[in-house]
Amino acid sequence: MTNKAKGPSGGIMKARFVSRFALASVIASATFSAACHNTAQEPTTPGIGESTAARVQAAQPTTISPPTMPTAVSPPAMAQGSVAMPSQAEIQRMLEAARTKYESVTEGKNADYIPALAKVDSKLFGIAVVLANGEVVETGDTNAPFAIESISKVFALSRLIEDKGAADVEKAIGVNATGQPFNSVLAVELNQMNKEHPAGNPLVNAGAITTVALVPARSGAERWDRIKKTMDAFAGRQLSVDEEVYKSETATNTHNRGIAYLLQSYEVIKGDPSEALDIYTRECSVSVTARDLAMMGATLANGGTNPVTHQRIVSPDTASHVLAMMMTGGLYETTGTWVYRVGVPAKSGVGGGILAVVPGKYAIAAFSPPLDKAGNSVRAQRAIESIVQDTSGSLFAARPMGGSPTATKPASGTTPRKPATQAP
Ligand code: DON
Repeated sequence: MTNKAKGPSGGIMKARFVSRFALASVIASATFSAACHNTAQEPTTPGIGESTAARVQAAQPTTISPPTMPTAVSPPAMAQGSVAMPSQAEIQRMLEAARTKYESVTEGKNADYIPALAKVDSKLFGIAVVLANGEVVETGDTNAPFAIESISKVFALSRLIEDKGAADVEKAIGVNATGQPFNSVLAVELNQMNKEHPAGNPLVNAGAITTVALVPARSGAERWDRIKKTMDAFAGRQLSVDEEVYKSETATNTHNRGIAYLLQSYEVIKGDPSEALDIYTRECSVSVTARDLAMMGATLANGGTNPVTHQRIVSPDTASHVLAMMMTGGLYETTGTWVYRVGVPAKSGVGGGILAVVPGKYAIAAFSPPLDKAGNSVRAQRAIESIVQDTSGSLFAARPMGGSPTATKPASGTTPRKPATQAP
């Protein structure tokens, strides 16, 4: 693991390291999740529902005890899946092998439609795994900050499902893959024409801007606050907005502006489209590290409870619906290829991060800025594919009852599968 990271300008900077076990951070995150949880049913109009006193009480951190440090013991045999998790040392070796193998890959290119992202050092490469019990294994530039971008959609969606329920979100946004690029206007139009929901699903831009607009709050400021605090609680620490990315994206997001107003014209966004767009742009500009992302994913892997702060951020039901959405649309038009090769829910962002989750077991996040044509990090995809295979993490992997307990490496885009036996 490196303690130095190259900053966006290419110069060496001191790695930003924030101890997530610091009591202040714990109290803060406990407050965030309590506040998020307790405002879950908050109405959009003032004066109805939970009283101010109750909200203030919910924000008191006094009853929160500090989380236990993750220990070095091997994780308990996980209930789900038929293959036991490898030890921490084995996972460490897998991560290092993947980093060594893929760090020389030169395919792909930084996102440049958001100018601030074009400047990020393309060589940065970090991989972090957080097990569902909170243990962290990492290699490379896992403390280098980067913009979360579209991966934020996962956490805004978590907020909305927790608040409104899965059925309402399905009705209000749609949950089917568009098969189109993340910012497709054509997808909005085709859905409208076919009497499907124009927003598509919460992980494309149209659906994500709609998600923001639907988060219950009495003002735009409160809506942003609730989304941000949800992200913080998933991460177990207070995240910050990268103001340079936010300004850069705000100055150039005319295409998203078009989508927001198109959605207003179809009466999907009923409030102010520019407010929803601004909050969406802010959530995309939140700065995370690969380690943060893996912790956020581990919260989903752990049924919605952060495995280090032990705070319940969302219900297991919400977490499972969010993971389902990641499975069907997390990498946009190349999600089918991803699921075929890797077999786990994931979400990418044009900042270069990808988060993948093996429910009940672990989350893995990789960061490397150069992207493929669909906007997914090239090295991150390869590293995650390799580690999920090494840990037999595919959700579709099953072994015959009573068969040999030896795990075989599943087929991938690059590794041909050997037939086990001759067909009868
Ligand atoms: O809306 C946008 O274009 C960016 N804020 C996010 C796009 C994104 O990350 C797509 N994911 N791979």
